[in-house]
Amino acid sequence: MCGIVGYIGEKNAKDIVLNGLKKLEYRGYDSAGMSLWDNKTSDHTLIKVKGRIDALEKRIDIKESPLAIGHTRWATHGKVNQENAHPHTSFSGRFIVVHNGVIDNYKQLKKTYLNDKTFTSETDTEVIAFLIDYFVSESLPADKAILKTLRLLEGSYALLVIDRTQPDLIYAAKHKSPLLMGKSNQGIIIASDMMALLPTADQYVALEDETFVTIHQDAFTIFDLNGTVQPYQMQPIDMDDMSSEKGAFDHFMLKEIHEQPAVIRKILNKYFEKNDVLLDTAMLDTIKKHDRIHILAAGTSMHAGLVAKKLLEQWAGMPTEVHIASEFAYDMPLLNGKPFFIMISQSGETADLRACLMRLKKDHHTVMTVTNVRTSTLAREADMVLTIHAGPEIAVASTKAYTAQIAVLAILSYALSHQSFDLKAELSKIASAMDSLLEKHEDFKPIVESLLNKRHCFYIGRGLDYAVALEAALKLKEISYIQTEGFASGELKHGTIALIEEDTPVIALISQNSTASLTRSNLNEVKSRGAKTLSIVVESLRENGETMLIPDANPSLAPLLMVIPTQLIAYYAALVKGYDIDKPRNLAKSVTVE
Ligand code: F6R
Repeated sequence: MCGIVGYIGEKNAKDIVLNGLKKLEYRGYDSAGMSLWDNKTSDHTLIKVKGRIDALEKRIDIKESPLAIGHTRWATHGKVNQENAHPHTSFSGRFIVVHNGVIDNYKQLKKTYLNDKTFTSETDTEVIAFLIDYFVSESLPADKAILKTLRLLEGSYALLVIDRTQPDLIYAAKHKSPLLMGKSNQGIIIASDMMALLPTADQYVALEDETFVTIHQDAFTIFDLNGTVQPYQMQPIDMDDMSSEKGAFDHFMLKEIHEQPAVIRKILNKYFEKNDVLLDTAMLDTIKKHDRIHILAAGTSMHAGLVAKKLLEQWAGMPTEVHIASEFAYDMPLLNGKPFFIMISQSGETADLRACLMRLKKDHHTVMTVTNVRTSTLAREADMVLTIHAGPEIAVASTKAYTAQIAVLAILSYALSHQSFDLKAELSKIASAMDSLLEKHEDFKPIVESLLNKRHCFYIGRGLDYAVALEAALKLKEISYIQTEGFASGELKHGTIALIEEDTPVIALISQNSTASLTRSNLNEVKSRGAKTLSIVVESLRENGETMLIPDANPSLAPLLMVIPTQLIAYYAALVKGYDIDKPRNLAKSVTVE
């Protein structure tokens, strides 16, 4: 979703901010803007466009600048147009603001303080700029006016503010939306995502909620909202800039699909010492003191949770429930016994999960976050963290994070159990099987061309295969825009089979011995009604005529392999249709609004 980058220092702020914004493109956006100090006019200039950063870049005619702030907007308040794009300017023109997040009480603030003012946009952000100006017009100095404004805001914000009368200063503020301060010996960079700090900064600090920052080119000071200075500690940046490049692949999604075997091997390195699991025993003991696990997540991460539930139940004997975070946050089920909570989030910034976390912390529950981003908000605020070590995932459609989440949660389930099989060997076997499946990735293009020529499609399966069917369907719909349902195959005949007509594509997932013949019967039922069918089957369960074969593995871990063809089907379906695979329409990578 929205992205923020700002820079002040000896290097060219224009290039640094533009590069930073480009690194955040993967998060999804619909308009972009920048404000830069222009040495020629000794003033700030402001440029905004509806559309891509390339268009913004073309409109900037300043070559060099020591200070700039930039923004990519994913519309929440008001249409996608140039007026609503950030930065926004205050009514006198003195203050320039970029903002991520949502201000819940902006209408009320408008009514109370700014009734006589004329706004040029429909955004909540413009109210912030106007309020600062309003308090300055009541004779407060700029910093005090910003602090007073911040204390009035309800909702979430990561903000950068420029005061045109102070050309060597950027103000920043953060509450509930992420904002990181990066430092090098040539300047300070501020961004809403670690990716944008690279390669400019070598150290960073993640701002806490309710903080306000004054930033000069060689130093910054962090305050709380009462203006009291706060201590902080810089951390080295532990991320490789190259890992956010596409390399030899045409799309990040294809690259990330191919990275999965390496990610599984990396997880094995991180979580095993010889054949022993490397997980903190105090952490495992804490979990064992609880009698029910609740997994909270959204989208693909929730689908990984559905697989993890089976592993926690089958291997560790822990009753486990999986909840959609946006539902759980405001419609909490009755909790009995001693519940333990696991939040799964690739980004660690999903606002629906943050809402759950706030609620759970208020009730003193113990929460673990399983995430790809160790520095993320959900990682910092939970009681325990497990990192999935997938490396930056840039494509909006999540692939390697899904398999990494399952692998890490499999290791946790195993560590909580009395199982004695060799999990490390099983997972290494899976990494090799992934390699062999991926070698044949181009075979999926003709399959997709002959199968997916309808507006809709079904994935069906039972048990773990049903869990994968849900993820397979999400992947296909989000990038190819084919309306796809993941369905429990036995449930089809209770209503949904009415949708099957001539050539409706139905793909069955068959990896579990106990349900293989039942799923096949259900597939035959739709075939008799005209469906065009395909089975994705593990080798040992293969029947005549079935050609899409998946190497055998521990059946509980089969989702790690079964999902690979479905990711490739989604990828090639979007490719054949000519869609923007890495940045599908309407979607954002990191969903930081509820
Ligand atoms: C789909 C996808 C989303 C995310 C969801 C949760 O491909 O990526 O469904 O899984 O928005 O995001 P995280 O895992 O960052 O909390």
